[in-house]
Amino acid sequence: MSQVEKIMRDIYADIDYVLIDEDKLQVRLQELADRIEADYEGKDDLLLLCVLKGGYTVLSDLSRKIKRPHAVDFMGVSSYGGATKSSGEVQILMDLKSPIAGRHVLIVEDIIDSGHTLNYLRRTLLARNPASLEIFTLLNKPSRREIDISIKYTGFDIPDEFVCGYGLDFDEIYRNLPFIAVMKPEVFAHLKG
Ligand code: IMP
Ligand code: MG
Repeated sequence: MSQVEKIMRDIYADIDYVLIDEDKLQVRLQELADRIEADYEGKDDLLLLCVLKGGYTVLSDLSRKIKRPHAVDFMGVSSYGGATKSSGEVQILMDLKSPIAGRHVLIVEDIIDSGHTLNYLRRTLLARNPASLEIFTLLNKPSRREIDISIKYTGFDIPDEFVCGYGLDFDEIYRNLPFIAVMKPEVFAHLKG
């Protein structure tokens, strides 16, 4: 067995169950891409703003499903450290490359949990005077919300489970799983946070 095969075997052994499989993800993303195309009809200068790191997979698939011209830019944000709960403290690790004043900005997030990250991002970005600012999230955990957030596009509402895969990590691993999975509880057993 090669090193890569061994690592993949170990990662798959950590999975409890698959919550959303690859087909379901792609079908839902196509539906939302179609809606975005219709909603942004006649609005030039659409910018998909990917929230790193977790948003990179969904941004890549969503962007290729939207046929109208658009730009992409990236913002690095951290709110968790190594824990499974948001601290409420959001840090910008990497800012956008270009100004957003006068542009139609669609934030692309992997997941909205407490809402702290998005609330902070929204306020920060609104101060830069975009023409419009909307939120897309692949996953939403409504039962965990601490701050009210208006989401324009939601892929899936999910229960209060910590999920990994399709860009989402636990302590920087499992992002490469091609589906959304719930990991076995013992994966988190060593955690203090
Ligand atoms: P919030 O600030 O509590 O809404 O947290 C949002 C961020 O926390 C997301 O962008 C993710 O990076 C991370 N996050 C929240 N829930 C999960 C999860 O179930 N798995 C992996 N990361 C998560
Ligand atoms: Mg994230």
